[in-house]
Amino acid sequence: MKVLLFAGSLRKDSFNKKLVNVVARIIEKEGKATPTILDLQPLNLPVYDGDIEAKGMPEGATKLASAIADADVLIISTPEYNGSMSSVLKTAIDWVSRVKPMPFSKKQVLLLGASPGALGAIRGLAHARTPFENLGNYLYPEIFGLSKAHEAFDEEGNLKDPAQYEKVQKLVHSFLTYCERK
Ligand code: FNR
Repeated sequence: MKVLLFAGSLRKDSFNKKLVNVVARIIEKEGKATPTILDLQPLNLPVYDGDIEAKGMPEGATKLASAIADADVLIISTPEYNGSMSSVLKTAIDWVSRVKPMPFSKKQVLLLGASPGALGAIRGLAHARTPFENLGNYLYPEIFGLSKAHEAFDEEGNLKDPAQYEKVQKLVHSFLTYCERK
């Protein structure tokens, strides 16, 4: 099973990118699936604009669409901006939804979030479900929000709290087991 992971953040030291890295290492350790991490930053996706599309699909959009098409399942970690998903994630979804053939249909999706705040981006995750569901994907019912993300990682980018690590490990395991059965 091929798992594509990406964060809905562009910044280099993104907590969501760190969480994606933790999850990819968990998947590698389990050895049942192959994780691929995609960084949205070098894709340089502009905000969706029909005039840009009319001139030709941005290269970043086709790259992201083909990575999604190639994956069996998706794991996405997004920041929460003003109680909703990041504009980066929404932009990525909107562009990919315009690529033909549209690769989003019937993908299993696990949503994660990380935030320095107390709620760990979970309000944003509730909003992030909508476009994925609208495009016909299967959203895993469980989510994980990493609160106090600015204190959560050590120098190597590992989660400091073993209980938190175990929580993520169990969620990833149950998600991949569920995907295998489908
Ligand atoms: C934020 N942040 C934020 N955090 C949160 O928990 N709830 C929120 O509603 C918001 N809103 C918000 C709006 C805007 C415009 C910015 C720039 C930031 C803080 C946000 O969680 C923090 O910057 C994270 O570090 C962003 O995620 P990455 O880049 O670390 O993955």
